[in-house]
This record gives sequence, structure tokens and C-alpha cells, in this order.
Amino acid sequence: MELQFLGHACFLLTDGIYRVLTDPFLTGNPLAAVSADETAADFIFVTHGHSDHTGDAVAIAQRTGAAVCCSVDLADGVFAPAGVQVQVGNLGGRIPMPFGSAKFFQAIHGSGVPGCLSCGFIFEMDGKKIYHAGDTALMTDMALLAEENIDVALLPIGDVFTMGPEDALRAAKMIQPKLVVPMHYDTFPPIVQDAEAFAQAVREAGFQAKVLRPGEGLQI
Ligand code: NI
Ligand code: MN
Repeated sequence: MELQFLGHACFLLTDGIYRVLTDPFLTGNPLAAVSADETAADFIFVTHGHSDHTGDAVAIAQRTGAAVCCSVDLADGVFAPAGVQVQVGNLGGRIPMPFGSAKFFQAIHGSGVPGCLSCGFIFEMDGKKIYHAGDTALMTDMALLAEENIDVALLPIGDVFTMGPEDALRAAKMIQPKLVVPMHYDTFPPIVQDAEAFAQAVREAGFQAKVLRPGEGLQI
């Protein structure tokens, strides 16, 4: 499978058949690798209701017919009223998907929608597990992920609104993934970070890390 970083918390996961897009904040993102009009997807996973995560989800879903996959509350509050196809779950739940599955994992963060909880996702695709943390603070629950045998952990490092690099390093030590990829940094001045320094610190802790420039991808 291939994982491509499109900027901020937006990734495209593909197994050669299905295209899974996460948190497609492209319009208005100065570092977006693609425009919303040229982005195709079969499923769009959205972690929470802040605009730097919902982004272009409705527009892309309307244009492509992709289903928006999110918590029940986010679907009820944002996506169902917009008339797009939704597929829902909630924290702790795993939903079977044509490409494998997606499990809703807790995140400590506001959601932007009253009564709605923010989440992360554990995707299973092509025999690999990808943890997209969403926006979150460091939490000891991440230690539970060590038993999930995560191949790639996508961790926010921007600080201010989410974990910063030091807490993301502590998260990596708890999760013990094969590879760490930082996200949610540099998009706006308050969250500018030295991603390479973070990656080096992760390597020194004994894990692999890769900084992806927007548009860059890797085979897993
Ligand atoms: Ni947020
Ligand atoms: Mn955010």
C-alpha cells in the first residue's frame, strides 16, 4: 500500500483499489499538495469538526460520491445535513471497510461540534496498520496501541493545539510503531516546528521516523 502526505493532517492511503483520504483540509491550507478539485477518494475519514480537519470533505464527497466516515455525532452535526453519504462509528468501535477496517480510537481534544468527541483512527489496509492520531494531547491510552502492532503512526507535533514534539516523542515510545511520520505542523505560524529534529529524536529513541513533505509518499 501507499501512504501520501497532502499537508496538515491530510493523507491519502491507497491499496491499488481503494483511496482513503483523511482530514482533507486543502482549500485555505498554504501547504496543501493538491487542490480539492483534483483529489479523488472512495472514503473520507474525518477525525473531528474543526475546520482544519473537515476542510473540503463535503465538496470532495459531493463531487466524487465518496462516503464520509466519522463519529455518529459529527455525521449528525455536519455531514448528514450537508447531504453527503456517511458511514459512522464511535470510539472503541471497528468498522469493516472494503479495504480492511477502521477503528475509532480516543483523542483528547475538542471536536468543534457540541456533544461530539474527537477521535483518531487505526486503519487496516493490505495487512498494514496505520494509526492516524487526529488532534490530540499526549495520553497514556496510547500505550494500548503497543499491542496493536502499528506499522505507521501519524502523530501531530505542532504544539499549541495538539501534542508538541516532546510529547509526540513520548507518544511514539508508548505506541512503538515501526515508523513515525509527523503531521499537523508548519501550516500556520503558531505551529511551526523542526520536524527533522523531531524525527532525529525519534530515531535516537530506537524507532524509525520519516518526514514527508506535502505531496511526498511512501510504500509500506
Ligand atoms: Ni482540532
Ligand atoms: Mn487541527
